[in-house]
Amino acid sequence: MKNKSQKTGRNALCPCGSGLKYKRCCGSRGAPAAKDAESIYARRYNIRLKKASDVEAIRKAGRLVMETLDLVESRIEPGLVTEEINTLVHKFTIKNNGVPAPLNYRGFPKSVCVSVNEVICHGIPGPYALKDGDIVNVDVTTILDGYYADANKSFWVGTPSPDAKKIVDVARESLKRGIAIVKPGNTVGDIGWAIQTWAEDNGCSVVREFVGHGVGFDFHESPQIPHFGRRGQGIELIPGMVFTIEPMINLGDHSLRILKDNWTAVTRDRSLSAQFEQTLVVTEDGSEILTPYDL
Ligand code: MF3
Ligand code: CO
Ligand code: CO
Repeated sequence: MKNKSQKTGRNALCPCGSGLKYKRCCGSRGAPAAKDAESIYARRYNIRLKKASDVEAIRKAGRLVMETLDLVESRIEPGLVTEEINTLVHKFTIKNNGVPAPLNYRGFPKSVCVSVNEVICHGIPGPYALKDGDIVNVDVTTILDGYYADANKSFWVGTPSPDAKKIVDVARESLKRGIAIVKPGNTVGDIGWAIQTWAEDNGCSVVREFVGHGVGFDFHESPQIPHFGRRGQGIELIPGMVFTIEPMINLGDHSLRILKDNWTAVTRDRSLSAQFEQTLVVTEDGSEILTPYDL
């Protein structure tokens, strides 16, 4: 085996075993030839591309996620206790042969994340009763036949204040713009750029500590998808990549704190925060949402 510390010539065979010249493979920053994409993305970025049958299975899991979110949405009203959202999600998932991925994931104690007002993400369902004017994010991740799909939505409870309306609208449009830029040849940085530009041009801020992620075979896979970034930077998107985009947008500053429960992330300035998330696959000419809902 070749010593990895030895410098590889640009025209020599790539040490990754792809059979390509080094300059056309791991020594390049461009997109690899399609036939080698799978092994190259695996070696270079630890990205596991999905084949058509994998995508179909994630699509199925995604349908169940959306049915679950629809069920929760139909029950949102002042007085609903966040623990009841957990019960709804848990029972509905199990009834449909799914597994709620959050439960016991790295010690998370519930089957769904419910994040109210200044909670950015990873809120733990409990005794809190929703009240008129709240915003609430419900993040559902379901395993079906071994495949994961992950999506969330923010809802208004009763009548939203102007601030509540604004932050939910900006977060929703941020996700829409992030998705719109997904196609082969664009990069992970383009997604972050599209989101950050929209959020900041509207006077809001983008959370840095939590990012979108590869998903499907596991809850969190490579690559990370930051919701901020520069055009043209980062990994080039290629067909078969499945990941989430899930911008968390704050009305005030982007910085956060984690509460003593070690999960709940809140805005440091206690300003409102909203989020939308979808799982999507990169296709030949763009993307397909695997957890479809109207944005
Ligand atoms: N669903 C979240 C995401 O979008 C992750 C939640 S992790 C949990 O990545 F443990 F809090 F469930
Ligand atoms: Co996610
Ligand atoms: Co999620």
